[in-house]
Amino acid sequence: MHVLTILDHPNPTSFSAAIAQRFIAGAEAAGHSTELADLNAEGFDPRWSMADIEGDDSGLAPPDVLREQTRIARADAVCFVFPLFWWGMPALTKGWVDRVWSWGWAYDQLDDPEVSLQRPRTGLFLVPAGARSDEMEDKGYLAAIETAWMAGTFGYFGFVRRDLKVLNGSKGSAARRDRLLDTAYQSGVTLAGPV
Ligand SMILES: Cc1cc2nc3c(=O)[nH]c(=O)nc-3n(C[C@H](O)[C@H](O)[C@H](O)COP(=O)(O)O)c2cc1C
Repeated sequence: MHVLTILDHPNPTSFSAAIAQRFIAGAEAAGHSTELADLNAEGFDPRWSMADIEGDDSGLAPPDVLREQTRIARADAVCFVFPLFWWGMPALTKGWVDRVWSWGWAYDQLDDPEVSLQRPRTGLFLVPAGARSDEMEDKGYLAAIETAWMAGTFGYFGFVRRDLKVLNGSKGSAARRDRLLDTAYQSGVTLAGPV
């Protein structure tokens, strides 16, 4: 299986970058081929622009969007790694989703998040978060992102196998962070293909 990892963090020595590397190491240990899209290092422009709007109409996406769509086309599984920001995605990831998973390529209707133009894939979110898990559950943040990302995003992507792992306590002790890094590695090792 070919696994694409989307990383959104400007610091190559960040915890998020380490999570992405551990996930990739696990996927490779399981025999998968891997590819990393490092959105900051590659200078991906997250701004939805007139070129994107015209691309929806003409069917000719801007070159940077086409490049990302080509990456997705060869992937059987896609893993997102980004720090939780304001209980949502950071700007580069949000813009990557907005621009790359475009109307006419990813989906062509708004009524049903389970109808996609894309072939079935596996999708995974590995999301470091400063907050504790009980805080996220009690205040409804976890339920909110589960709905938005599992159904509202991965559904339209056509992902048939979906998982969200919020890595709570990402600013915690070294022992805590080691456990989260191991969770990332195991997520790569056990990654299942789309059924
Ligand atoms: C702008 C900003 C917004 C943040 N918002 C949240 C948040 O809504 N919930 C949360 O649990 N942590 C939040 N955090 C904490 C980050 O998730 C945490 O710093 C990150 O997971 C640590 O990983 P890193 O070392 O790779 O940056 C925020 C941090 C920043 C800088």
